[in-house]
Amino acid sequence: MIEFDNVSKTYQNKWTALNNVSFTVERGEFLFITGPTGAGKTTILKIIYAEELPTAGKVIVNNKNIATIKKKEISLYRRNIGIIFQDFKLLYDRTVYENLEFVLKAINMKGNEIREKIMRILTRLGLMHKKDCYPYQLSGGEQQKVAIARALVKDPEIILADEPTGNIDEEASKEIINIFKEINLMGTTVVMATHHSELPQLLKKRRLHIVQGKIVDG
Ligand SMILES: Nc1ncnc2c1ncn2[C@@H]1O[C@H](COP(=O)(O)OP(=O)(O)OP(=O)(O)O)[C@@H](O)[C@H]1O
Ligand SMILES: [Mg+2]
Repeated sequence: MIEFDNVSKTYQNKWTALNNVSFTVERGEFLFITGPTGAGKTTILKIIYAEELPTAGKVIVNNKNIATIKKKEISLYRRNIGIIFQDFKLLYDRTVYENLEFVLKAINMKGNEIREKIMRILTRLGLMHKKDCYPYQLSGGEQQKVAIARALVKDPEIILADEPTGNIDEEASKEIINIFKEINLMGTTVVMATHHSELPQLLKKRRLHIVQGKIVDG
């Protein structure tokens, strides 16, 4: 479902983020990407999301070579991919509810179905009481949960999660990890970048460990 074939990425011709990286992720798999700060984890997720292109090598996602995606095809390509950015990237002039509504309207969902989907995911993440708040009225952890809700609300085939537990306490982290486990059990492919190197073993999942843009384990 996701294939990286000898992928390298250099930003602005001088900052090397990935160096000859190859791996595959099967449909329904749960893969962790671990490694220290600056290792290249976010770069891998951004390439899968077609937000960055590789400098060398080939990336195939759902049978599509991402280098061949045209600008006007990007939103269609991303329809089945939910992403949780490390820095959230919420719409700061819209409420929690409106942030989620925006995603569903963009995929042409209508009225009642939008409402139902949003209510369901907000309830699941314990955010119902904040649905009319703006992001600036939320704590960092709550904003992170909104980012997670926004990625999950459209029931994507692939979830890319970049440090999704970076801003929340231990108890809430466990809850979030359980949600990812559950959606993975229902068939969603999950790729999660994290500094928490103990997580893959704890969850008994495969991991790629990268250091300075190279896979050193996995
Ligand atoms: N837009 C950019 N321009 C220049 N260099 C960049 C850019 N984005 C990332 N880099 C560089 O690429 C390398 C990998 O960055 P990346 O964000 O992928 O690391 P990371 O593993 O996600 O780190 P962290 O754990 O801190 O989030 C870093 O050295 C970073 O400085
Ligand atoms: Mg990162």
